[in-house]
Amino acid sequence: MKFFLDTANLDEIRDAASFGVLDGVTTNPSLVSKEGEQKGFKDLVREICEIVKGPVSAEVLSTDIERMIDEARDLAEIHEHVVVKMPMTEDGIKATKIVSDEGINVNVTLIFSPSQALVAAKAGAAYVSPFVGRLDDISEFGMEMVGDIVQIFDNYNIKTEVLVASVRHPLHVVEAAKMGADIATMPYKVFKQLLKHPLTDIGLEKFLADWGKGK
Ligand code: G3P
Repeated sequence: MKFFLDTANLDEIRDAASFGVLDGVTTNPSLVSKEGEQKGFKDLVREICEIVKGPVSAEVLSTDIERMIDEARDLAEIHEHVVVKMPMTEDGIKATKIVSDEGINVNVTLIFSPSQALVAAKAGAAYVSPFVGRLDDISEFGMEMVGDIVQIFDNYNIKTEVLVASVRHPLHVVEAAKMGADIATMPYKVFKQLLKHPLTDIGLEKFLADWGKGK
């Protein structure tokens, strides 16, 4: 399973990359805006690509097909690792089909149902991003959607990768892995939480204390 970081913060990306287990990054307009980087967006994306050396999602801001296509081509020029994020709208799907046919990797985002994921895959998306946390927020089981998408893609040998997004805690990542999802993209905090267990800390402390006693 691949780990992506869901952030536009360079310090977080550098630190996560230093562990050697980071496969990619996803950004969205909210995350870029949080860093105050709307103006320097392209430079930021380029820098992230150079740190991560793997897929980096950058989202289009237009909502009509012609401008989405122009933006997608423009974003894809930034770096070979750029994946263009398209929203799951009618124009987004039409644009996905056109630019995917040109060889641009597209991540269809804001997916909240298996039917949306299936349509996006048929349009040639390289990735689909089901948002689990936001479904949990409205009392629907986000991970059930992921299980359905993985099963459907397996049934038809669909190559589109399932990129679990809107991850809020380590159990989302573990459940996604159990279901066979290809990728989980997570906030930095969740990435760090994956490593932690209090018994590990207590165990290490005891090992070192016991070693001291034997001297
Ligand atoms: O990047 C898309 C997604 O992961 C956003 O997550 O926490 O805003 O629902 P969240």
